[in-house]
Amino acid sequence: MQTAAIDALLQETRVFPPSEAFVKQANINDPTIYERAAQDFEGFWAHYAETMLEWFEKWHTVLEWNPPYAKWFLGGKLNACYNCVDRHVRTWRKNKAALIWEGEPGDERVLTYGDLYREVQKFANVLKSLGVQKGDRVCIYMPLVPEVIIAMLACARIGAPHSVVFGGFSAEALADRINDAQAKVLVTADGGWRRGNIVPLKHNADEALRHAPSVQKVVVFKRIGGDYTVTMQEGRDYWWHDLMKDAPLTCPAEPMDSEDLLYILYTSGSTGKPKGIMHTTGGYMVGVTLTAKWVFDLKDEDVYWCTADVGWVTGHSYIVYGPLSNGATCVIYEGAPDYPDRDRFWAIVEKYRVTIMYTAPTAIRAFMKWGEQYPRKHDLSSLRLLGSVGEPINPEAWMWYHEHIGGGRCPIVDTWWQTETGAIMITPLPGIVATKPGSATKPFPGIFPAILNDQGQPVGVNQGGYLVITKPWPSMTRGLWGDPERFVQTYWSKFEGVYFTGDGARLDEDGYYWLLGRVDDVINVSGHRLSTMEIESALVDHPAVAEAAVIGVHHEIKGQGIAAFVIVKEGYQADGGLQEELKQHVVKKIGAIARPDQIIFTAELPKTRSGKIMRRLLRDIAEGRALGDTTTLADPSVVQALKEKYEGQEE
Ligand code: PRX
Repeated sequence: MQTAAIDALLQETRVFPPSEAFVKQANINDPTIYERAAQDFEGFWAHYAETMLEWFEKWHTVLEWNPPYAKWFLGGKLNACYNCVDRHVRTWRKNKAALIWEGEPGDERVLTYGDLYREVQKFANVLKSLGVQKGDRVCIYMPLVPEVIIAMLACARIGAPHSVVFGGFSAEALADRINDAQAKVLVTADGGWRRGNIVPLKHNADEALRHAPSVQKVVVFKRIGGDYTVTMQEGRDYWWHDLMKDAPLTCPAEPMDSEDLLYILYTSGSTGKPKGIMHTTGGYMVGVTLTAKWVFDLKDEDVYWCTADVGWVTGHSYIVYGPLSNGATCVIYEGAPDYPDRDRFWAIVEKYRVTIMYTAPTAIRAFMKWGEQYPRKHDLSSLRLLGSVGEPINPEAWMWYHEHIGGGRCPIVDTWWQTETGAIMITPLPGIVATKPGSATKPFPGIFPAILNDQGQPVGVNQGGYLVITKPWPSMTRGLWGDPERFVQTYWSKFEGVYFTGDGARLDEDGYYWLLGRVDDVINVSGHRLSTMEIESALVDHPAVAEAAVIGVHHEIKGQGIAAFVIVKEGYQADGGLQEELKQHVVKKIGAIARPDQIIFTAELPKTRSGKIMRRLLRDIAEGRALGDTTTLADPSVVQALKEKYEGQEE
């Protein structure tokens, strides 16, 4: 984050304590919970593990900690699907809405917990009939329809770890992820709706499967249908509805060990190859169940809407496992916020009387730009709590959300966490903590962060440093699929024995955390985590590109945009046509989320004498700052020439 932005945050002095009425009804409103959790964090987590989940067998040991490997609730047996579905069906919740789904074209479906119970068991039997056994990986590449959740829960039910790949990823990205996990079955759909267009999921899947031989069977859910046809490969591809027709209605939930793998979810790291983050069953379920209940103040009467896609961790933890484990009613929406018009989200809030909404700063900034006339057209009075996730929220966006969406009465929970942390880590508890616009406030009880300098010493008040977590927590990742060395290298080697998050942060005089963005080569575009090296690899894959350097630059809506400095090979024309072609090439290699905003052609890149690209200088150039220290450069004239060129090219 830029110095000017940090200065602005330092001047932020507004404080919003929770209203008395909110405190009174909150699921957790006793401030001593923080101290109690700190005095005995193992006891704290064990208490909630016991009271919030149903176990087939209780654990014998709460925690075994051999840094960087933690095991929680050892010897315990449970099933995530059972906790999200079966236990509710035995109560009055059987006929309660679990999912309220709205498709982009306006179609609607409501599934009760009873419906989920039936569909999940049937699909679990379908998976078994296709040869899926406990421990086999199942890849899911679907639009946001109820079936994606049914598929995930069915996997959890039979102990087959799922690997959900966001439907916006390209065929190549899908193939990489299938190959890494060696998935046996792929669950997909003919397509999905996005801004009135069809996302050709099955077509992408077919392309991916040409390079992903581990997949033996494909299940295709018919989302689009009608005239839209896809090719079905005999003996490999089956329609969801055909397989479900005769599937037996009951399938027992497999008793899983606490430390059995629940899922793998790929995320970008600072090198090109995506990382398969692993989450196991017991600790993860404890983390997401308790945080969902306390952070969102989830009650049975609530209508809860998390606007993320299930392809990201936010969807895994706070559309599927956390809310359903609590027996909540969840709204899910398939499409874009501006289709058919820019008031779509607010129409959904009004229609279903949404009480809790959890979205991303990038969306809020887009809403701000579109103007308050869109939310004003709708009755948003049902809302009682708002959440934010995915990137730092700037105070202006926070205030706009507070006033124009929350009507000034809803607490805002700005939740900091990561795919690796599994559950929310730094957040207000809305019935206890007074919020400050732009701050994620305090660690969740039982979570112990710190901010360190390069030497590993805690920094002083209002000094920026590296955000780390000093003690293990139940939902922490158990590692990277197939790559233990990279796990140690990425998270556990910067500082001895503590988890390095890759984020910068500062602590203010009240002990509030202010997140300052990534400190590594990861960029955050519209709340999506991308690796600069992954985009660079995609660019150099194009025959015209000799070398590429990618950086994140400030972007008004997306938080960060993507700028690529490219050296073109001899014989190629560095022109507008090539710029477009290169952008398209990245879309093909990774997906539309990675499309560069700018391609800047250059003859050379600034490098140190040891040949390392100096990205800091590229950022200075792209953001129009005075050039910092250039003394370590092999050839300082390169950067001056580049700066002049860039300023000439800027739109
Ligand atoms: O940089 C932080 C940012 O998103 C990163 C994690 O990305 P991902 O694993 O894709 O998970 C996103 C959803 C949990 C973090 O390292 N980040 C996430 N939430 C916040 C945030 N930065 C500031 N404030 C947040 N509330």
